[in-house]
Amino acid sequence: MLKGKHIILGITGGIAAYKSVSLLRLFVKAGAEVQVVITPAGKEFITPVTLSALSGRPVISEFFTANTGQWNSHVDIGLWADAMVIAPATASTIAKMACGVADNMLVTTYLSAKAPVFVAPAMDLDMMAHPTTQRNIDLLRSYGNHIIDSRAGELASHLVGKGRMAEPEEILAAVDAFFESSLTMKGLKVRVTAGPTYEKIDPVRFIGNYSSGKMGYAIADEAARRGADVTVVSGPVSVSPSEPGVKVVRVESAREMMEAARREFAEADVAVMAAAVADYAPAEQAQSKIKREGAEPPVIRLVKNPDIAAALGEVKRSGQTLVGFALETDHEMENAADKMRRKNLDMIVLNSLRDSGAGFGTDTNLVTMLTADGRSKRYDLKPKREVASDILDQICALR
Ligand code: PMT
Repeated sequence: MLKGKHIILGITGGIAAYKSVSLLRLFVKAGAEVQVVITPAGKEFITPVTLSALSGRPVISEFFTANTGQWNSHVDIGLWADAMVIAPATASTIAKMACGVADNMLVTTYLSAKAPVFVAPAMDLDMMAHPTTQRNIDLLRSYGNHIIDSRAGELASHLVGKGRMAEPEEILAAVDAFFESSLTMKGLKVRVTAGPTYEKIDPVRFIGNYSSGKMGYAIADEAARRGADVTVVSGPVSVSPSEPGVKVVRVESAREMMEAARREFAEADVAVMAAAVADYAPAEQAQSKIKREGAEPPVIRLVKNPDIAAALGEVKRSGQTLVGFALETDHEMENAADKMRRKNLDMIVLNSLRDSGAGFGTDTNLVTMLTADGRSKRYDLKPKREVASDILDQICALR
């Protein structure tokens, strides 16, 4: 579950900091990207050189990088993260977190983070047992943080009792299990529109677009891998689902897609509108092939197609999550936010034709996800399968 996840590893000043190196290696081996944020005291126990070599990223400790004056943004790091893991968490850091004492990068990042936070306390047994520490830990738990309880055993003081940080393998397992349980889609009905629509001009010609269906089918496959009951309402494409359980309803025109999508949405928990629906269709369809010889070239009058996403947005019930895409060429963020509002979507996935490797036909995509609460997050260029996973992570987080 940790592959591709962004994890902030917060390290504070305790003997158990040496175990953070193993934890960092385990996260990296599991495929996560790790940003280490260490307190000044933490650096007394473990060197940033080791941590940055293993994570492949500069370690962040101060608000400014001394020699360049570069500002380390705790807000950006906090928003980047899928999870923050503070291991070891000393009594002092736990107290600062409980009371919001934002006097170092680690605590400011914690206060800015929107992602789930895991705290692995480590300290001497009497400090751990002290009512102040216990009350602070309870406070952190009451704020929704996940406490990975310390274990009993021999401590740095050679006393024996509770205060040893949980083993790195246990911490990794706790984070992994969290993602597994929060990202499962078992029991959910997920409906996806995919591909283009073809709007007939005559029996041999149509108005269409370049959508291959890859993005929509990747979402359907990923939802099926997460245990959802999945149906794709698909325009004409040559791709097919790779997961056996995915059902496909094939349609051709926007009107047919509208009819199928309405039917499917009635029972959906989640609907993702990844299709590139033609906005216009010929007002009339010639019953026989329009001939080239003879008359003047025909003038094709167009009429507006129904807006499927907007129609579903109008009938959306509480408990249903409706997600759209925005394919833009300019003023991307404004247009996407506007579409999300107009169509009553919970989230919109923006892809821009100005980004190479993004949009139609490619095996990759580069997206920014905007949610109805005004937040947005830009992702790197990735294979569509991984983009699908990011989209479903966000959907699970919204529900
Ligand atoms: O299929 P691929 O080759 O993999 O390419 C993927 C993709 C580029 C098609 C996909 O990532 C994407 O962006 N799909 C939406 C394309 C689009 O039509 O965007 P739009 O900005 O015009 O529409 C906004 C939203 O309204 C979309 O969710 C669209 O499905 C929906 N819509 C639009 C028009 C319409 N008449 N009915 C709709 O439901």
